[in-house]
Amino acid sequence: MRCQSWLCLFCLVLPWMLCQGTSRSHPQQVHLSYPGEPTAMTVTWTTFAPAGSIVEFGPEPGRAFIASVRGEASLFVDGGCERRRLYIHRVTLRGLVPGQRYVYRCGSLRGWSRPYSFRALPNGTNWSPRLAVFGDMGNINPQSLPRLQRDTQQHMYDVMLHVGDFAYDMDQYNARVGDAFMRQIEPVAASVPYMTCPGNHEEKYNFSNYRARFSMPGDTEGLWYSWDIGPAHIISFSTEVYFYLKYGPHLIQKQYQWLEKDLQEATRPDRRRRRPWIITMGHRPMYCSNNDLDDCTKHESIVRQGLPEHQYGLEDLFYKYGVDLELWAHEHSYERLWPVYNYQVYNGSTAAPYTHPRAPVHIITGSAGCKERLDSFVLNPREWSAVRIEDYGYTRLHIVNSSHIWLEQVSDDQDGKVVDGIWIIKELHGPEAWH
Ligand SMILES: *[C@@H]1O[C@H](CO)[C@@H](O)[C@H](O)[C@H]1NC(C)=O
Ligand SMILES: *[C@@H]1O[C@H](CO)[C@@H](O)[C@H](O)[C@H]1NC(C)=O
Ligand SMILES: *[C@@H]1O[C@H](CO)[C@@H](O)[C@H](O)[C@H]1NC(C)=O
Ligand SMILES: *[C@@H]1O[C@H](CO)[C@@H](O)[C@H](O)[C@H]1NC(C)=O
Ligand SMILES: [Fe+2]
Repeated sequence: MRCQSWLCLFCLVLPWMLCQGTSRSHPQQVHLSYPGEPTAMTVTWTTFAPAGSIVEFGPEPGRAFIASVRGEASLFVDGGCERRRLYIHRVTLRGLVPGQRYVYRCGSLRGWSRPYSFRALPNGTNWSPRLAVFGDMGNINPQSLPRLQRDTQQHMYDVMLHVGDFAYDMDQYNARVGDAFMRQIEPVAASVPYMTCPGNHEEKYNFSNYRARFSMPGDTEGLWYSWDIGPAHIISFSTEVYFYLKYGPHLIQKQYQWLEKDLQEATRPDRRRRRPWIITMGHRPMYCSNNDLDDCTKHESIVRQGLPEHQYGLEDLFYKYGVDLELWAHEHSYERLWPVYNYQVYNGSTAAPYTHPRAPVHIITGSAGCKERLDSFVLNPREWSAVRIEDYGYTRLHIVNSSHIWLEQVSDDQDGKVVDGIWIIKELHGPEAWH
């Protein structure tokens, strides 16, 4: 029914535009993710015909492919009228030496990828992870991608966080836009773990393209999960459960209960001592001062306050467990907030607002680049808004140690210039820090 005749014309023309004439069992769309267990790394890729799922790898420098691991493939049938069939291959490498660089290739005897290399994440808490953070990057106009690739090839990052909204949209043209996008990010995502959360542009067919194409920790197909890196605990979740009730309103409660349990565990004294930073990532912000009608522009935003009966709001939950930093996207701009809770600013002090902040710090970074271009701001922001930048770009997050985080904003429009930067300094973490 959805396959209307005008659309089918596109269906004939677009494969020529979007496909890169490779054999159907040749691996493509190679990307990495961290499965949440130290010394492991997951490789995910796609073929259009059944093929084996093998990763060959070895330490670098050294003789290249001295080890070989098998994984498995799952069939993904897109929800579009063509019911396109993709084979998503997943192989998890285990027993890696923390901090060691490896070279690998993936595929099977029916075709191998080019070689890529990655560094196994260091183990333990006593190191300083560097992350790139951004949201809202599309197949058309992914302006920041070449710069992210350049940074990645200079080994600037341990991990990349894509805070929702991919490809615009992965399901389009019978998921060929998803294929094209996954090929576009391969030079980056095959070299550092590419960690994700769902955004509104992934909604189609119950987020099926998102769930099938990425391989995140946990058992929710990447809808919500958490993992540890150095001195931080990172929680990824779906703001979309609050907006697409047609896929099941029970998901709001299910996720909320999982979030609370995860926060309870992460704030157990022994765990929080080792990993004091708790960082969240979700697509739609609680606050923003953009010039549109999005949820975050409303005083009673749903993500912040929950549903109209004020159920399952996330601001109180995150405040209660002393979440330090909240990363958001969705607005195609960059906005940094003063430490804020319930619309009140809780600067550490006026001279140093982010030294011992008395509420969580929010960063909205959704300007990586997409066909919807940038979002503008209202003229006079509220007092919680600290900095607003309407440039294409992305954020760098350096978790230096248990007390120091450095955050900076890169403007792609201004040739990579760092246009904002703050130190968040906290000796005390957890709700005790608010008083
Ligand atoms: C990683 O760190 C944990 C906790 O410190 C330790 O139990 C484990 O043995 C370490 N693993 C490796 C491979 O170093
Ligand atoms: C959508 O997916 C979620 C998560 O897998 C599942 O729990 C839910 O039942 C699905 N909703 C529908 C309407 O199929
Ligand atoms: C928070 O600190 C900033 C920077 O010093 C200042 O401009 C702002 O007015 C402060 N807000 C409050 C409510 O103290
Ligand atoms: C954390 O890093 C900051 C900035 O480099 C440094 O000043 C501080 O002494 C470090 N603290 C610890 C506990 O290592
Ligand atoms: Fe969005």
